[in-house]
Amino acid sequence: MELPYAEPYKIKMVESIKRSTKNQRLKWIIKANYNLFNLSSENVFIDLLTDSGTGAMSDKQWAEMMIGDESYAGSSSFLKLKKVVKKITGYKYFLPTHQGRAAENVLFSALIKEGDIVPGNSHFDTTKGHIEFRKATAVDCTIDEAFDTSIIHPFKGNVDIDKLENVFKQHPKEKIPFVVLTITCNSAGGQPVSIKNIKEVSLLCKQYEIPLYFDAARFAENAYFIKKREKGYEDKTIKQIVKEVFSYGDGMTISAKKDGLVNMGGFIALNNKKVFKQATVFNIMFEGFITYGGMNGRDMGALAVGLNESTEFNYLESRVEQVAYLGQKLVDYGVPVQQPFGGHAIFLDANKFVPTIPREEFRAQALAVELYVVGGIRGVEIGTVLADRDPVTRENRYPELELVRLAIPRRTYTNNHMDYIAASLKNIYDSRNKAKNGYIITDEAPIMRHFTVKFDKI
Ligand SMILES: Cc1ncc(COP(=O)(O)O)c(C=O)c1O
Repeated sequence: MELPYAEPYKIKMVESIKRSTKNQRLKWIIKANYNLFNLSSENVFIDLLTDSGTGAMSDKQWAEMMIGDESYAGSSSFLKLKKVVKKITGYKYFLPTHQGRAAENVLFSALIKEGDIVPGNSHFDTTKGHIEFRKATAVDCTIDEAFDTSIIHPFKGNVDIDKLENVFKQHPKEKIPFVVLTITCNSAGGQPVSIKNIKEVSLLCKQYEIPLYFDAARFAENAYFIKKREKGYEDKTIKQIVKEVFSYGDGMTISAKKDGLVNMGGFIALNNKKVFKQATVFNIMFEGFITYGGMNGRDMGALAVGLNESTEFNYLESRVEQVAYLGQKLVDYGVPVQQPFGGHAIFLDANKFVPTIPREEFRAQALAVELYVVGGIRGVEIGTVLADRDPVTRENRYPELELVRLAIPRRTYTNNHMDYIAASLKNIYDSRNKAKNGYIITDEAPIMRHFTVKFDKI
């Protein structure tokens, strides 16, 4: 008999999670104004709100926590991290920040001016927020296949080279401070970008003399997909692939809360000394001195270990294949999900799941709320609520996809939890025709409204 797959780790510490009744959850979600961000986490049974900072650290990472050097300047934990960042990314300069959006804030302060254009594959919401906050425009050049959840394409995070070149032709290069390539592409469903595409983007950028930066939150998962799906990379190690990917760009920002395998942290790494010096000024202003940038010494030590662990094939296989296990269960039950499955999350296609709820009534939000009420499972809307209002017209923006993201924390839940999630969704799917009404917004912030928005049920 062929031996089944088993995770390459065993569990050393457990955390209890609370079961609740449907009636309790109904009360809690009303009190939260139907915004899942407002729930108390102890009232959530399985928390799939995000894979960001929610994973389990290894024993070796916890050991680093104990020996963290908390010196203000030049700590050994910083130097350890600096060495690992250089080894893994190949970039010359490095600035720690407290998380991914902080890295964006620092780098974009150095690079973006009002009226600029920043093209890329689908920008993550904080990236877009930081671009628009500076009165610049993010232009999405992702391939069209990404917007059809049923099309099977191995690299749905790819950039459409013609779309990108059109942007380059329409605007002078002084107006395009850089291109941002998000690997994997979270907003397109955790979809990877191929090395071939990265090379093409890089070549085009060089031709038009425009720098290329990565938003590298899930760079290791992207490398796993390259190894599994791209010809010529089957025999390369993840670390070799990662190094090659980064060699095509000028630098990166990263939220280390994902593939850094830590609960908090981020950094900028880049090659251009002038940009590094400019970013250093903003790092000191916004984050802290350049050898800690908002991070504890112990967190920098844990991140140094985490970067090495996340770029190991065995870890990545267990991580990405667990996500696929959930995805396959849902497909077997007929539930419409983004395919192929993303690296960190399964995305429910609310346009196909609950077309009976009008788009103006936030159908993906309605589905996310229902999943919480039925199973105590917290996912997140990636649709009209997240897309926010147009900064000029203030009208709601309707993205092509209305998704509910089920982000799987790293090394945290078992496949029994995946079975429970799939069964909850099957039950909702079986009664989907009864869903008619969605929600109206009663209160919202002027930017990044999804975190604090309040709803009423229609
Ligand atoms: C692709 C991507 N970029 C940037 C960020 C922002 O990182 P952080 O939440 O650490 O600020 C995230 C977070 O989810 C992300 O997924």
